[in-house]
Amino acid sequence: MFKYQKYNYALFGNPVHYSKSPVIHSLFAQQTGILHSYTSINVSLKDFYPILYNFFQKNGKGANITVPFKQEAYAFCTELTQRAKIAKSVNTIQKIDDKHFLGDNTDGIGLLSDLIRLDFIKKKYSILILGAGGAVKGILFSLLSFGCSVFILNRTIENSKKIIIQFQKYGNIKIFDRSLLDIKHFDLIINATSNFNQEQVNAISLSLISPKTFFYDMNYQKNNVFFIDWCIKIGANFFSNGIGMLVFQAAHSFLLWHKILPETDYIIQFLNKEKNILSKQERV
Ligand code: ATR
Repeated sequence: MFKYQKYNYALFGNPVHYSKSPVIHSLFAQQTGILHSYTSINVSLKDFYPILYNFFQKNGKGANITVPFKQEAYAFCTELTQRAKIAKSVNTIQKIDDKHFLGDNTDGIGLLSDLIRLDFIKKKYSILILGAGGAVKGILFSLLSFGCSVFILNRTIENSKKIIIQFQKYGNIKIFDRSLLDIKHFDLIINATSNFNQEQVNAISLSLISPKTFFYDMNYQKNNVFFIDWCIKIGANFFSNGIGMLVFQAAHSFLLWHKILPETDYIIQFLNKEKNILSKQERV
């Protein structure tokens, strides 16, 4: 569409071939009329720093970082936004000059924006988060500062404990304890595991769920729909995949780079139709 590209933007990760980020960013470019060349670059851990550095020494102006390099990106940056500092994880980098790089984390605002769009979140909600990996570190500060109480349920208890220590100063966060089983209905359940499976289903008693419980899957890949299938199986009334979070986190990266927050709703609808996994909230 554009005759020349002054600066380049790219997604770094492994794997990145499945990523929808290049499509999303090209739609942002069309919508805003901003020159914005955005590609995806698959890298190995060994090559991550040299390739990223080289990118910025050429025409690279901004980068998104996805799994498994968000911690490496955090170490790469010379300056950090408050939310990246708290998450200790970076998904967006902006080049300041040849030696200075600002790291941000837009995952939390991405998730929160989508939960608000869906009307899945209110202050004081009790949220059960499944998982305690890097993805959870990116979202906790946003949920806690919004005023929600968070419970963590994870396969490896040590990882849950580390997350609690890192985030307890920002709000009400606890390890999910089986003693809560009979007394607590969650308002919202978020799947942040990379592999939700039968073992986790067994750990979630149906007494934790009410007809009003919202379910959100941070995954959006077509081959990873076990959580959404489970929502359908148990008759959940409100559930959604994570396409909206993906689009909103991209929008906030675009905002950091270009000082404009693009419109997102039509892109979320477009991607959901393309993937043919509409959330139930959007179907009714
Ligand atoms: P990410 O950085 O994307 O969050 P991750 O660090 O690999 O990815 O973490 C993924 C989460 O999914 C973790 O909470 C992990 O649980 P552990 O802390 O026990 O490793 C969870 N997870 C991954 N595979 C799992 C499986 N087969 N069963 C249950 N949980 C799993």
